Amino acid sequence: MGLILNYQDGQTPLDPDQIDGLKIKTIATQKQLNEFEQANINEALVWIHSKRKITDVLTEDFMVQLHQRMFGIVWRWAGQFRKTQTNIGVDWVKIPMEFRGLIDDTTFWIKHETYPPEEITLRFKHRLVSIHCFTNGNGRHSRIMADLMAAHVFGLEKFSWGHHALVESSEQRSAYLKALKMADLGDYSPLIRFARS
Ligand SMILES: Nc1ncnc2c1ncn2[C@@H]1O[C@H](COP(=O)(O)OP(=O)(O)OP(=O)(O)O)[C@@H](O)[C@H]1O
Ligand SMILES: [Mg+2]
Repeated sequence: MGLILNYQDGQTPLDPDQIDGLKIKTIATQKQLNEFEQANINEALVWIHSKRKITDVLTEDFMVQLHQRMFGIVWRWAGQFRKTQTNIGVDWVKIPMEFRGLIDDTTFWIKHETYPPEEITLRFKHRLVSIHCFTNGNGRHSRIMADLMAAHVFGLEKFSWGHHALVESSEQRSAYLKALKMADLGDYSPLIRFARS
């Protein structure tokens, strides 16, 4: 049986080349794919907790390694910058430059306390997912990065994200996407409110 994918609003569709990147050929449905991805992400969370001290979340190495750890069992392209266009995201040739710029700007905001801690974290999260470094998994990667920044840079609680996984269609996912669209327009307050809801 082939892969049957139902895309939720705001998800990046996979093209056939990307489906080729699936490592587990027995995955046949979106539900199975979600389950395998979640199991892979859970292993990444165990890996994070096993690190005694996380000092450098805001580095290229850590962020790329995190994506690899989150999706490397399921996808061959995990931890690799995308080489195709996606409906959300910058021109793929600009990813390394945009990624570097985001790290530099965020480091500056933290040092100079340009915005309150939660606003810095969610501005960073929104810009990271807007660059869309990877073929897929950018939403989940950016939410874990935001949690790690809250905890390890600012000593804050990780976010609740509507108390929902946000992977499938739900009222919370709609609210999340609406908040991201407000952030696209420069208003970060709905995203900050949502992340703590
Ligand atoms: N208008 C938007 N502006 C910024 N980011 C957006 C917008 N619409 C969607 N997104 C983000 O892009 C994500 C989809 O990208 P991708 O499919 O790579 O991530 P994912 O982790 O697989 O998705 P999901 O978070 O839905 O499981 C959405 O979850 C959301 O986080
Ligand atoms: Mg996706």
